[in-house]
Amino acid sequence: MQRIGILTGGGDCPGLNAAIRAVVRTAAGRHGWRVVGFEDGWRGVIEGRERELDRAAVQGILHSGGTILGSSGANPYTEGGIEEVRAALERLDGLVVIGGDGTLGVAARLAEEGYPVLGIPKTIDNDLAGTDRCIGFATAVQVATDAIDRLHTTAESHDRLMLVEVMGRSSGWIAIHAGLAGGADAILIPERPFVLEEVAEHLRRRHRRGHSFSIVVVAEGAVPAEGTFELPPYPLDERGFPRYGGIAHVIAPELERRSGYETRVTVLGHVQRGGTPVAEDRILATRLGEHAVTLAAAGRWGRMVGVRGDALTDVPLAEATRTRSVPEELYRVAEVFFDHGRGWR
Ligand code: F6P
Repeated sequence: MQRIGILTGGGDCPGLNAAIRAVVRTAAGRHGWRVVGFEDGWRGVIEGRERELDRAAVQGILHSGGTILGSSGANPYTEGGIEEVRAALERLDGLVVIGGDGTLGVAARLAEEGYPVLGIPKTIDNDLAGTDRCIGFATAVQVATDAIDRLHTTAESHDRLMLVEVMGRSSGWIAIHAGLAGGADAILIPERPFVLEEVAEHLRRRHRRGHSFSIVVVAEGAVPAEGTFELPPYPLDERGFPRYGGIAHVIAPELERRSGYETRVTVLGHVQRGGTPVAEDRILATRLGEHAVTLAAAGRWGRMVGVRGDALTDVPLAEATRTRSVPEELYRVAEVFFDHGRGWR
């Protein structure tokens, strides 16, 4: 009987439990394998914190948010513990790693060393190359869209300009999708540097045409066009990447001054990552979990599962560390409904 491990690493998101359930049910039900779950990402592998995951252990978790295994951004290569990880892998027939670029980056290096590892992509940011969709994205978009819908009514009552800041790190996937779905009047994404004066002029034009309010969706990683506006520097996280959050508060007073409209800010933050996964995330996570175990059974290690269009695919794990930006074509669709900014980055 084979024995495989599973872990969830990095920032959590809705749909992780659906993926864990799918891996356990496919491994146990279809192949008769045993599955051990490591707690808190790579940290649990280093510290030997593991528990048996049988059918009963994954009962009733399909619809629950978070992860029953816990998560962390631990990286055994940079923080120490890689020998313990190698030793744990020697005791297993394989390991399924559910994570974003950081967690899967570790998996990619282990695969390079010849260890039997597979990756499942999750991040609300949806920015991993090698898949069109990551677990958690659909739910984050739905949460942001619901928020925009709610902000519409209060914006209209008070003739206000509403800025809604959404997550996404240095990609604008959540912003562009939620902005399109929620009918935003402007969407600021990192891939398209914005010019505040042009955004303000667009809003003034809109109000001149008789609209009394506007909704602007701001991706947390949005950037001003060079030389047009200075953002204060972001603090760096433990991996040396910017810790985003708060850009809407920085640009709100400027937009209020330039447009003349009373402005309010809503930063959605971690609410986008919490709670029940929408149906699309549950289905994606279930398909990816099943596909990972199918690859394991075929001995096809070193891959990250994903989707292209509606079809399941898999790519070398190394692809997981490359990021994917919003394509210009998608922004062009949004642009039908507004026009500001200065060229594609
Ligand atoms: O990568 C997912 C994400 O939610 C980003 O959108 C956001 O910038 C970051 O994680 C927040 O990280 P933390 O949970 O460490 O504050």
